[in-house]
Amino acid sequence: MTEPQSFPTGSKPEGASTPEESSRHVREMFTRIAPRYDLLNHLLSAQMDRRWRARTAKELRLVLQRADAVVLDLCCGTGDLAFALQHDAKARIIGADFSHTMLVRAREKAMAANGAAPIPFLEADALRLPFAANSFDLVTSAFGFRNLANYEAGLREIFRVLRPSGTIAILEFTEPPPGLLGDAYRFYCRTVLPKIGGWISGDPAAYAYLPKSVARFFRPDEFVEALTKVGYTNPRYHLMTLGSVALHIATRL
Ligand SMILES: C[S@@+](CC[C@H](N)C(=O)[O-])C[C@H]1O[C@@H](n2cnc3c(N)ncnc32)[C@H](O)[C@@H]1O
Repeated sequence: MTEPQSFPTGSKPEGASTPEESSRHVREMFTRIAPRYDLLNHLLSAQMDRRWRARTAKELRLVLQRADAVVLDLCCGTGDLAFALQHDAKARIIGADFSHTMLVRAREKAMAANGAAPIPFLEADALRLPFAANSFDLVTSAFGFRNLANYEAGLREIFRVLRPSGTIAILEFTEPPPGLLGDAYRFYCRTVLPKIGGWISGDPAAYAYLPKSVARFFRPDEFVEALTKVGYTNPRYHLMTLGSVALHIATRL
C-alpha cells in the first residue's frame, strides 16, 4: 500500500520512537488500566459503548447467523465486542489480544455469563496472528485497531486470515466534523475525559493518549481508501454519536 504522506502509519504513544516501542507502550498501558477499563468505558461514554457494539453486531448479523462461520474478535480486550457478537449468534467466536491482564478479565466475564458457550480468548499480537491463512469468515475489532503500531501491516494480516468473501469490521473513534456539537465533543474528549479517566484509573497518560491517538487516526474516508489499497472491496462506513464513532465494513475478495 503506498499511502499519501498525510496518512498515519501506526499508533505512536508518547516516548515511543520505533514500532516495537509503540507496541510495548500500548500493551503495558492496557495492562495497567485493565482493572478499571470496563468501568471507565461505560462511564466515559455514558453507556454508549454498549450501543456501538450492539449496532456492530446488528450490521454483521448475516454472517453471525451462520452456524458454519468462524469469527475472530481482534484486540478483544475484556471481551465486550465478542460478547455482543455472540448474543443470538450461531457462529463460533474467538477473541484475541496481546494484553494478558485484559484477557484474564475477559475469561472471568465469560465464566460468569450463564448459558452462552464460553468464548476462547487467546493471547496474540494482531500484527503476527497465530492462525493459518483463510481461517475466518469475519474479523472484527472495536477500539483496538487504532492502537496498532502499523496500520497497513494490520490490514494485511487481517486480509491473510480472512477467507475469500470474508468480512472485516472495524469500530473506531473518529474526529467528529466541525460545528457546535463536534466542538463540544472535542472539548469533552481532550479536556474532561483525560481528567476523569486519569483520576479513576490512576493512569493519566493512558487517558491523555486516547484523544491524541484518535486525532492521529484515519478520517472515515481515508480509512476507506486504506482498505481499498490493501485489496478489500465494497468498503463502507456508518457513523454514530455525532460522528464520533465509525464502523467500517469491507470484504476480502
Ligand atoms: C481500547 S481496548 C478495546 C478492547 C475491546 N475491543 C473493547 O471493545 O472494549 C484496545 C485493546 O487492543 C489491544 N491491542 C492493541 N494493540 C494490539 C496488538 N498489536 N495485538 C493485540 N492486541 C492489541 C489492547 O491490549 C487492548 O486490550
